[in-house]
Amino acid sequence: MSEGLTRWRIRQNRPIAYDILEAPRLFEPQNRALLSVGRLEQGRRFVVIDRNVARHCADDLYAYFAHHGIEARIVFFAGGERSKRMDGYLEILRELDAFPIRRRDEPIIAIGGGVLTDVVGFVASCYRRGVPHIKVPTTLMGYVDASVGIKTGINFDGHKNRLGSFEPPLRVLLDKEFLRTLPHRHILNGVCEILKLAIIKDSGLFQLLEAHGAESIVSRFQNPAGGMILERAISGMLEELEPDLFEDNLSRKVDFGHTFSHGLESRHEARLLHGEAVLLDIAVSTLIARERRLLSERETARIFCLIDSLGLPLDISLLDAEILWQALLERIEHRNGLQRSPMPDSIGHCVFLNDITRQEIESSITALHDRTCADHEPALER
Ligand SMILES: NC(=O)c1ccc[n+]([C@@H]2O[C@H](COP(=O)([O-])OP(=O)(O)OC[C@H]3O[C@@H](n4cnc5c(N)ncnc54)[C@H](O)[C@@H]3O)[C@@H](O)[C@H]2O)c1
Repeated sequence: MSEGLTRWRIRQNRPIAYDILEAPRLFEPQNRALLSVGRLEQGRRFVVIDRNVARHCADDLYAYFAHHGIEARIVFFAGGERSKRMDGYLEILRELDAFPIRRRDEPIIAIGGGVLTDVVGFVASCYRRGVPHIKVPTTLMGYVDASVGIKTGINFDGHKNRLGSFEPPLRVLLDKEFLRTLPHRHILNGVCEILKLAIIKDSGLFQLLEAHGAESIVSRFQNPAGGMILERAISGMLEELEPDLFEDNLSRKVDFGHTFSHGLESRHEARLLHGEAVLLDIAVSTLIARERRLLSERETARIFCLIDSLGLPLDISLLDAEILWQALLERIEHRNGLQRSPMPDSIGHCVFLNDITRQEIESSITALHDRTCADHEPALER
């Protein structure tokens, strides 16, 4: 340092602590979970709820706040990836600005899927440089993934989650009753993220899916085994997120299925849900791992057999080597110069690769087409 020049250093370690709680029958008047933090006396709450969720419970929600004497401004927001944009974000900000809330003790409440909690979390992180928020996931994707961490964001300029922040919620409230009205396609969408976790870090979860996945899907995870799967998936996710909430370590197991999927999802926004794109990535990655002898043929077959038996939608006609390659190049920037692609080297375990080639992607897509064709040939011809 040059002599005579003064230097100041600012240091602070701000602790992060928030609870993720099961809160069944959330809108029953005697259930205080939604109001367990924040001001009650003459309190106000700004609530954003997914329109499709509100169709089933808006009356209960109004009645809930009325019962507790809370003045609530309830805003309805359309789910779906198309809402995860600047205009949706600004729309909520304007509504919020028109309904003054106290900056510290009247938390914003976000009730919806991953799109809504990502957008509202981003609003909460920016408004007045940060106001507290509570997340209530209503999709399986939100329940096991989007709501439990601290990432917020919106899509921008054709890129997924290009704008966003790390913003810890005050609390996450889990009521799996919401899954009862979730369309089947969106249940499967969430299962893709559970499968990701099972393959990359939890062979026990993989076995649970093999044994009880199909019945849990049918019962929308209201069955006891479904409850076990959800609990195990959330615990596994948190084991990965908690030590690295701000992604200081960019080699993340939970990025399995998220190396090529961003490109697919952005290109086919109208056709692919997030989990469906992740599943395509899982399939391609599994075959790269197989080709490298990281996975045995038996393990590879087990993965595809599970995908099949759960009825997960694998639309391989959308796979295009150029899109996947460009997605990988983009991920290298995102992961600060290296591919850092998690790859299973057995079921429930992984390594990180930095040298995936375009040729490997092409071979894997070809192998996937061959495998799918073979699966559909009559047994006698095999
Ligand atoms: N922040 C994170 O860490 C994180 C992690 C994973 C995914 N995500 C994001 O999550 C988003 C996907 O989330 P999603 O799959 O929940 O999508 P979504 O929020 O769009 O919800 C899916 C659909 O289900 C409807 N819906 C929601 N709950 C319902 C219910 N209980 N009953 C009936 N209909 C209901 C919605 O209106 C929507 O049409 C993506 O944008 C992805 O990037 C974020």
